[in-house]
Amino acid sequence: MKIKKTGVALPAIHEMGRKIQQLSMETGQEYLFLQRGINSVVNIDLSEVVKNIDFNSKDIQTYPPSQGRVELRKAINDEYFGGKTDISCITVCGGGMPGIDNAFQIADVRKIYLPVYHWGNYHNAMKIRNIEYAEYDSFDSLNKIIPELKNCAVLLGDPGNPFGNKYDDDAIFEMIKKLGDNGTVVFYDSPYRRVFYSKSDDFYIRLLDIDNVIVLDSFSKSLGLSGQRLGFVHCKNAEFNHEMAVRIAFATNGTNAFAQILVENLFTTEAGKKAVTDFKTKTVAEITKNIKYLKESGFIVNEFYKESVPTGIFAIVNISEEELLANRIGSVSLSKFTLSRKQEAAKYSRVCVSVDNKKFVEFFENMKAKR
Ligand SMILES: Cc1ncc(COP(=O)(O)O)c(C=O)c1O
Repeated sequence: MKIKKTGVALPAIHEMGRKIQQLSMETGQEYLFLQRGINSVVNIDLSEVVKNIDFNSKDIQTYPPSQGRVELRKAINDEYFGGKTDISCITVCGGGMPGIDNAFQIADVRKIYLPVYHWGNYHNAMKIRNIEYAEYDSFDSLNKIIPELKNCAVLLGDPGNPFGNKYDDDAIFEMIKKLGDNGTVVFYDSPYRRVFYSKSDDFYIRLLDIDNVIVLDSFSKSLGLSGQRLGFVHCKNAEFNHEMAVRIAFATNGTNAFAQILVENLFTTEAGKKAVTDFKTKTVAEITKNIKYLKESGFIVNEFYKESVPTGIFAIVNISEEELLANRIGSVSLSKFTLSRKQEAAKYSRVCVSVDNKKFVEFFENMKAKR
């Protein structure tokens, strides 16, 4: 059989996960899984929430609309946009990744600019779809080439992956506005933001005033539901939204109804809201302690946090992937998050800081003692 090859490898995290699991089995020793991009302090406790769901209902056992269930889109409007958008601007999709992949294909732009250090899935998705890649270093560097960015797209994420850094909201808003007003498409992909914010956060409402912005979000991180594969895309452009629905209809025939009803319940019922608040409170408390520990121990790489603040769920440490692994800590080398700065990045690693603080400190202190 002839195969149309993409030339794209599977994500590095999967390989590292497999390696650590194998090492753990072979040695019988505990390993700390910091290579992953998921909140691992606690699971969201769904036990009270699922009691409200009728698994025998027609709602679950039928095809949902391509753009997503109306009830969920209303709940998203209420939760993220203060009820101020039109639900026709919201498309539910099978996680953040399919939203990104579809949005990249639909926006008719010359090329997409990614940050120099970025989540590898972006450029792999672009490679598979033959979309031209370009990169930018900072907001300053974008500001210098604004005219060139017309008919191009720029991807921004905050807090970002791999750095886990958070910019000042006004600074990032100004950047998005400048780009949007310039006719540059902005992919605002921030699935980590809502780990740290609740319904009172008005950032997405502010973005409604700007044209050419595509908000990409996911429930994988903020609700701890990476296994449910659910996210959403918001765009004010009706043609864009039509294309999103078409691509979902003819690629997956809609998005899992159970996952949609589960998230609806998390946003609209008392049991759901409590489960979400408990999950976020416990998660953020440990993230905060872990970042403080990394800073105080001199492990954090300050040069990446000059214009932004290490916030989570990741941080960059001045320890190589190899040394961390020798100390039974999983991580991903920073070199896997850049195409142009691989050599200088190899001495640093991205660790997930969304884990139990006692365990986190125990493993790093162990390493310190052996150095
Ligand atoms: C920056 C960023 N965007 C989007 C996603 C998409 O997440 P998912 O497809 O699990 O919803 C991830 C996942 O790791 C991510 O790191």
